[in-house]
Amino acid sequence: MSVAAKRWAQVRRSLGGVEERSDRQVYLDHAASTPPRPEVVEAMLPWLAEHPGNPSGSHRLARDARRAIDDARDAVAALVGLDAGGVVFTSGGTEADNLAVDGVLGADSGVAVCCSTEHVAVLEPVRDSDGVVLSVDAGGRIDLGALAETLDSVADIKLVSVMAVNNETGVISPVAEVASMVAERAPGAVVHCDAVQAAAWLDLPSTCQGAHLVSITGHKFGGPKGAGVLALDGNIPLSPMLRGGGQERERRSGTQNVPAIVGLGRAAELVMEDRKDTADRVAAMRDRLEAGLLASVPGTRCTVPEGVERIPAVTHLCFEGVESEALLYLLEQEGICASAASSCSSGAQESSHVLAAMGVDREMAAGSLRLSLAWPTTEEDVDHALSVIPGIARCLSAGT
Ligand SMILES: Cc1ncc(COP(=O)(O)O)c(C=O)c1O
Repeated sequence: MSVAAKRWAQVRRSLGGVEERSDRQVYLDHAASTPPRPEVVEAMLPWLAEHPGNPSGSHRLARDARRAIDDARDAVAALVGLDAGGVVFTSGGTEADNLAVDGVLGADSGVAVCCSTEHVAVLEPVRDSDGVVLSVDAGGRIDLGALAETLDSVADIKLVSVMAVNNETGVISPVAEVASMVAERAPGAVVHCDAVQAAAWLDLPSTCQGAHLVSITGHKFGGPKGAGVLALDGNIPLSPMLRGGGQERERRSGTQNVPAIVGLGRAAELVMEDRKDTADRVAAMRDRLEAGLLASVPGTRCTVPEGVERIPAVTHLCFEGVESEALLYLLEQEGICASAASSCSSGAQESSHVLAAMGVDREMAAGSLRLSLAWPTTEEDVDHALSVIPGIARCLSAGT
């Protein structure tokens, strides 16, 4: 048992109130993945169990599968606010982001621009292409002055990529403003928006107004994992990353994942129906959780400066003198699943490029915690988090 765990075991005994370890499981990591909604699972099951057709075939069962995909295409197009003909189904947000950057740049010359708080699925292809990575303000939003300067001074800009919502902090970016600057100063360039973290919470047609390409992924808004979309406005030329049978209008070869696409389409319909109600309910719980933690753990601060617009689902906090890894370990012992930054493949805690770009002090960043809520979150979940997190955080900070 680690020193922190021993110390917490002592503290929890002395607290009395949390003497009995509860069996409660509280999932506060919805920004990493949120569970598929029951209606989504129901819609997917027949396509897993009963329908064998390949959507590229010509017989009746193949046509059934094609129709199911096209219904999902219509639902996703309505969610994003672009034409169904521009919807390219992918294996998720990473592939959609990679396809946007690499597909637009293609084999020709041209420069891609993004900012330093983008998801690595955008950041890495932009860096690999020797693109321009812009700085951000203290809220993690793209520096519009630096963008204007880049648009005016760099020749042959082909793509500007800006995320709608940051996956670590929940901060909303001014996508429409970026798109109108690009249209004015570099009209030959296209704008890509990674709207992966926005789909559950914001109206995409207005949030991504002016963007020519939009990425989303199912597992962030009640759909399945392994299903995403790159939606294109009109006929943006795109070099495919996957070549073969020419599916998805030659933009993404490979037999489509019909059950997952059906689930993605159903999730899109559901989120359009009840996004506002869910957002209001979740915002109230997030605010209560955040206020409770700030009030009960001295030295804690909200990572996002006051007044910076955020989605209702995320609170990102930095605990002074606390190590995130120990905090997450003890939270898990008490049934709470959360994360410090974004999820990475190894599950290890890596230092956050987002917090570094925002200029968050390294020591504070080392004690960061992201709690993210979504449609299944309940008031009881928040009660449990408030009954457990302050004690653990105080215990850990006292140990430093
Ligand atoms: C903003 C953002 N973009 C892209 C991705 C990648 O999506 P996926 O996990 O579906 O590949 C994520 C996932 O965490 C994300 O948060």
